[in-house]
Amino acid sequence: GLVNTRDIFKKAVSGGYAIPAYNFNNMEQLQAIIHASIETNSPVIIQVSNGARNYANATMLRWMAKGAVEMAREMGSQVPICLHLDHGDSFELCQACIDSGFSSVMIDGSHLPYEENVALTRKVVEYAHQFDVTVEGELGVLAGIEDEVQSEHSTYTQPDEVEDFVKKTGVDSLAISIGTSHGAYKFKLAEGEEVPPLRFDILKEIEQRIPGFPIVLHGASSVVQSYVQLINQYGGHLDGAVGVPEEQLRQAAASAVCKINIDSDGRLAMTAKVREYLANNAEEFDPRKYLGAARSELIALMKHKNETVLGSAGKA
Ligand code: G3H
Ligand code: 13P
Ligand code: NA
Ligand code: ZN
Repeated sequence: GLVNTRDIFKKAVSGGYAIPAYNFNNMEQLQAIIHASIETNSPVIIQVSNGARNYANATMLRWMAKGAVEMAREMGSQVPICLHLDHGDSFELCQACIDSGFSSVMIDGSHLPYEENVALTRKVVEYAHQFDVTVEGELGVLAGIEDEVQSEHSTYTQPDEVEDFVKKTGVDSLAISIGTSHGAYKFKLAEGEEVPPLRFDILKEIEQRIPGFPIVLHGASSVVQSYVQLINQYGGHLDGAVGVPEEQLRQAAASAVCKINIDSDGRLAMTAKVREYLANNAEEFDPRKYLGAARSELIALMKHKNETVLGSAGKA
């Protein structure tokens, strides 16, 4: 069956690597995640956002996840698979996911005043732990893609809050804000300017306050430039798309960061390959052809992440 995050995080923190958390909304994404995990022998977190539930139907996604576990076992693999709610925004949503069989949930109260975040997170933890479901909380706000000056608008996690938050809520992991953001436009760079480094100084302070506690990094796509170029070459217009350099993610994975969330890179890979395939095969109209091309590229991308960036390959 599905596993919660407790054991896989413990091993990842002590082993100096991070578990990949890949979002899925459809069958091809889910198949790619499972195949890449099996081929690299990596534990994996398959995560579902509220947007995914609205797109694909909550019941459908739940049974797809169950099917994915069954498929992996039929293939002879025992890789740990965790089904996680990404960015849960209410107790009721978390409760619905727990009741339907998720093994882990995120309650994202990061936009709330501190005490409200504590109370909401505590409430979800109390419910979830009755069913051995693990809970991810968040402190600090990730920058929005629309922000002019990224560093002025993001609210980094305050290290002096983390110990109190973890103690009062009983969460199993903590998402933090150290300079990443969601989407494909993470930094607004002037001509010739380089991507600013993540705030590893803040991460270090957080680690000192809660030694060995599992830390989560959202917004961790690298925005692979070869995909951006392919998309633009075949009719797309993604101008100035930029992400977190792989070297910085490697550095994060070696720390107490034990879950790294990646969604945008997969979206870019799929879009690049669908555009390329359709442009080069004008006579084809079978969705299996272009979605198959997208799925193959997703597998290659995720294997690359597991093997060379997160270090989760071989850790199942
Ligand atoms: O953090 C956001 C994830 O990339 C999921 O995105 O809410 O559009 O499904 P979504
Ligand atoms: P990216 O947009 O960088 O892929 O981040 C995904 C994420 O944090 C999902 O929760
Ligand atoms: Na780590
Ligand atoms: Zn996120």
